[in-house]
Amino acid sequence: MKKVILSILFLSGVAVISVAQNKLVINADQGKDVISKHVYGHFSEHLGHCIYGGYWVGEDSPIPNTRGIRNDVVKALRDIKIPNLRWPGGCFADEYHWMDGIGPRDKRPKMVNTHWGGVVEDNSFGTHEFLDLCEQLNCEPYICGNVGSGTVEEMSKWVEYITFDGESPMANLRRQNGREKPWKVSFWGVGNENWGCGGNMTAEFYADQYKRYSTYCRNYGDNKLYLIAGGANSDDYNWTETLMKNAARQMQGLSLHHYTIPKNWEDKGSATQFDEAEYYVTIEKTLKMNDLLKRHSNIMDRYDPQKRVALIPDEWGTWYNVESGTNPGFLYQQNTMRDAIIAAINLNIFNSYCDRVKMTNIAQTINVLQAVILTDKEKMLLTPTYWVYYLYKVHQDATLLPISLSSAKYELNGKKIDAISVSASKDASGKVHITLVNIDPNKEQSIDADLRGIEVKNVSGQVLTSGKINDYNSFDTPDVVSVKAFTGAKLSKDKISITLPSKSVVMLELN
Ligand code: AHR
Repeated sequence: MKKVILSILFLSGVAVISVAQNKLVINADQGKDVISKHVYGHFSEHLGHCIYGGYWVGEDSPIPNTRGIRNDVVKALRDIKIPNLRWPGGCFADEYHWMDGIGPRDKRPKMVNTHWGGVVEDNSFGTHEFLDLCEQLNCEPYICGNVGSGTVEEMSKWVEYITFDGESPMANLRRQNGREKPWKVSFWGVGNENWGCGGNMTAEFYADQYKRYSTYCRNYGDNKLYLIAGGANSDDYNWTETLMKNAARQMQGLSLHHYTIPKNWEDKGSATQFDEAEYYVTIEKTLKMNDLLKRHSNIMDRYDPQKRVALIPDEWGTWYNVESGTNPGFLYQQNTMRDAIIAAINLNIFNSYCDRVKMTNIAQTINVLQAVILTDKEKMLLTPTYWVYYLYKVHQDATLLPISLSSAKYELNGKKIDAISVSASKDASGKVHITLVNIDPNKEQSIDADLRGIEVKNVSGQVLTSGKINDYNSFDTPDVVSVKAFTGAKLSKDKISITLPSKSVVMLELN
């Protein structure tokens, strides 16, 4: 039976019954877990035009740059407060040999990027360039080391090269290459997808390898590594179980990879040409993230009830067929209002697991998969997904607030899912932020929200929506999907009535 919530408003002495389809309660004084800012992290691989053309144009480029790194991209990512950046892969990480990417650029050896298009990688973007990028972005680096085709010695020396302050062969080599002081690097991945492109290992074998490699990743001076083990593919619960059973003591984080693919690996579906049935299925599939986090967390709870080891979905997002005419190995796809809805749903889910999920990394920042930025030579555009990160930055390092939600359903072809997704947090200054998604592409949704444990004087907000669910920003029309002021929230005492447009993402700020 369809649930409706009735509220009675008295206008000029006449009782008027308004019907809200959704009921939300926010307990603003009961938060306890902090949403780490690193939940809003990103991932950039040597793949297609993510690094080359995306960030890196070289010092001699007519595109405005600082030491070879695009200024427009740096500004855009600083505007969403990018907290960390995972690099150099992905599958590329397990065939990357870091020593090829240091020293004078014209002397660096070239290699073939066998995973991604078979193109020649000239190694002009290496360790120094990446760490310069992170300094320009004011974000923390997350480096993924090579287990699949690299050695323990190679990984150990990379840590020494970057983080050791004293006299040592690697620290001296760093100085010779122009960097006197070491960098601070905490987040360190020990391999990537070692069940697949990272070496096709069994969970047991990788757990042993993980312990070997991580033993020699040393903490130099006050630099403390936060070691992240390569985690499961989607619902491979055995991988998580085996890693937790055998190596939990040696790790700070365990990763998880899960992509949302509307159809199947052979024909994933188009990024822009889809009907409502395909939209529905894509949303249904992305909601699987909730079950994945629940089941992987349950396993981790058995071995680590104190929640010392973080679950880190360091690759997630949508994966479609590449845009026609582009290199199939470059994974270049457009990004629509559907992607914005998907990003917003997933970020709300991650927030709700913030006691265990301490970092996530959407794949990938520029020109690859669910990108937040697309570039075409000197042009740059911000995708609908970018604007979700723009709205959601308010949750970074804020305290998650417990909520209860009774949601109307979005129904199609006899199936139904909740139409609304919500998350709320309180920041250090006491401001409460609520992020809401109306998944329904056809109907607006009214919500009655009860605010408990807080006195609110003012509510303001911003909204991301569009006429069609497959609207996107192009280089000719870059502002089709972008953020606007939201006027659909009305405050009366300790209640807010909210009207969400169809297919929208809204961020409310309560003062
Ligand atoms: O993000 C693209 C690829 O997806 C990554 O290189 C790999 O880790 C995953 O399979």
